[in-house]
Amino acid sequence: MLTDTRRFILASLCAFLLVAIWNPLFTPVPAYSEESQPKKSLYERMGGYDVVSAIVEDAIPKLWDDPQTASFFVGMGTDTREMLLQKNKNLMCYNTGGPCKPFNRPLEKVHAGLNVTDKEFNVLLQYIKKALIKYHVGSQEQDELMAKIEGLRPYIVQQKEKAK
Ligand code: HEM
Repeated sequence: MLTDTRRFILASLCAFLLVAIWNPLFTPVPAYSEESQPKKSLYERMGGYDVVSAIVEDAIPKLWDDPQTASFFVGMGTDTREMLLQKNKNLMCYNTGGPCKPFNRPLEKVHAGLNVTDKEFNVLLQYIKKALIKYHVGSQEQDELMAKIEGLRPYIVQQKEKAK
């Protein structure tokens, strides 16, 4: 025969087990929400510094060889070219939310007087787009980066179209 105390302990134990087992089943699990996740920067989503660096190294030197743009870079030494790449890497890293510190001169100032046309700017866009595909950057991230670069057009293109 169970004593009152034992009966009480047993009943409490059963009640505890019931609550412990059933409660999680009925407690609604908070729905996964995009907003509750910290949003990753474009830099992170693109693949970080390695990808930024690869894109710059792939796209910019093509301007040096392309007959439509090569004349801008005639006489530019190896060290200056290396520096141009590094400045662009830091700038892209910074503008996409990465941890780099940009160290270029203001874009408008640097390109003033070069008379880069829209057509020549588009040559660069086309090489960047190809590099994004080559390095498997997602299509959403491609669009975001291309929009950011498009936003720089007014700082680079200071002449609509060269007179023929
Ligand atoms: C979004 C597009 C572009 C960006 C972000 C960009 C960025 C830069 C940067 C960071 C520099 C180095 C600035 C410094 O020395 O501190 C530079 C220099 C230069 N860029 Fe661009 N650039 C763009 C488009 C172009 C295009 C389309 C051309 C020509 C086709 C061009 C031609 C040059 C030249 C010739 C220099 C060297 C200028 C000098 O030091 O005298 N850039 N650019």
